[in-house]
Amino acid sequence: MMERTLSIIKPDAVKKNVIGKIVDRFESQGIRIVAMKKLQLSLEEAKAFYAVHKERPFYESLTQFMTSGPVVVMVLEGEGVIAKNRAIMGATNPAQADPGTIRADFASNVEQNAVHGSDAPETAAQEIAFFFSGRQLIG
Ligand code: CDP
Ligand code: MG
Repeated sequence: MMERTLSIIKPDAVKKNVIGKIVDRFESQGIRIVAMKKLQLSLEEAKAFYAVHKERPFYESLTQFMTSGPVVVMVLEGEGVIAKNRAIMGATNPAQADPGTIRADFASNVEQNAVHGSDAPETAAQEIAFFFSGRQLIG
């Protein structure tokens, strides 16, 4: 099924200057970029984006980290791209991520793990709408 998903290149990876290398992981797997922008999240925005995790012990630190520098937010499109992106990203903890995944290659630790990816069709739709209007998605 043709799908769209939200991808974020997190502040750690932007600082490491690997935006292009990460985008290449998607494009070389046939995924298309239908929207893309660089921005700095406010603390309020980071807290809203990660609201699902607000009871978790890492919420404060995660939202501070996500506001620590610019991020690149993208909408990816392709066949089964929600699961495909998660596979390309690798496990949340880079110590457990398969070799060749983005997180194995670029993440620093379980928090500063280079990329975000939506985990299901409902969250993908919500997360895309959080950052982009319909007319900003250019298929
Ligand atoms: O990003 P992903 O969907 O793989 O993981 P998550 O369980 O939805 O957690 C969201 C984000 O919280 C992770 O990507 C990490 O940046 C952070 N996190 C953390 O700092 N410490 C943990 N033990 C788990 C997640
Ligand atoms: Mg998640």
